[in-house]
Amino acid sequence: MIPIPLFGWLVVLLFGVPLAASASGDPTPSDCTPAIALRSVVDDRPLVIPEEEVTDAVAAFLCTGRNPLAASEEAAERGRELYRRNCQICHAEDGDGRMGPSLIDDVWMYDRVASEVGRFEIIYGGGVGVMRAFKGKLPAEDILAIMAYIGKLRERAAGDGRE
Ligand code: HEC
Repeated sequence: MIPIPLFGWLVVLLFGVPLAASASGDPTPSDCTPAIALRSVVDDRPLVIPEEEVTDAVAAFLCTGRNPLAASEEAAERGRELYRRNCQICHAEDGDGRMGPSLIDDVWMYDRVASEVGRFEIIYGGGVGVMRAFKGKLPAEDILAIMAYIGKLRERAAGDGRE
């Protein structure tokens, strides 16, 4: 028969370690109330993401204000295709701008757009004129994937010395 102390350690090993790991893992919405309140960059009206679009990545973004997909090659690859279909016509293949402003320089139409939260807000909630809101057209996580790809375009531009 296993002596109680040893059995106790087994319980700690089997259940305690995974529990401790999950407690220190990525933040979940319950770890961060209130989550970031998204607002339109144009008129400050609140932007609400429907619950069915709040994937783990979206929840982590709403918690930290940082794009959790920023370093994911896979997300950037998905973002590339989404960018090509939805954004390229106005922001150009390399993000240098055309009818819409450049996304690869550090000049922003709104101060807020310099941050990842602000960039999400203008894509999700729209800007003025032809910069439509992608809310309802692209799920929130797709916007994070596009932002990961825009990050790649910015790195590439910085590498070419034309930030
Ligand atoms: C029909 C043209 C058009 C399309 C398509 C379009 N945009 Fe824009 N975009 C614009 C214009 C024009 C602005 C400036 C809006 C303003 O001044 O409020 C803008 C602004 C932006 C900004 C802020 C840039 C800055 O310098 O502040 C970001 C980021 C952005 N767009 C990303 C995207 C992404 C990502 C997509 C695709 C999901 C997209 N846009 C699709 C025209 C477009």
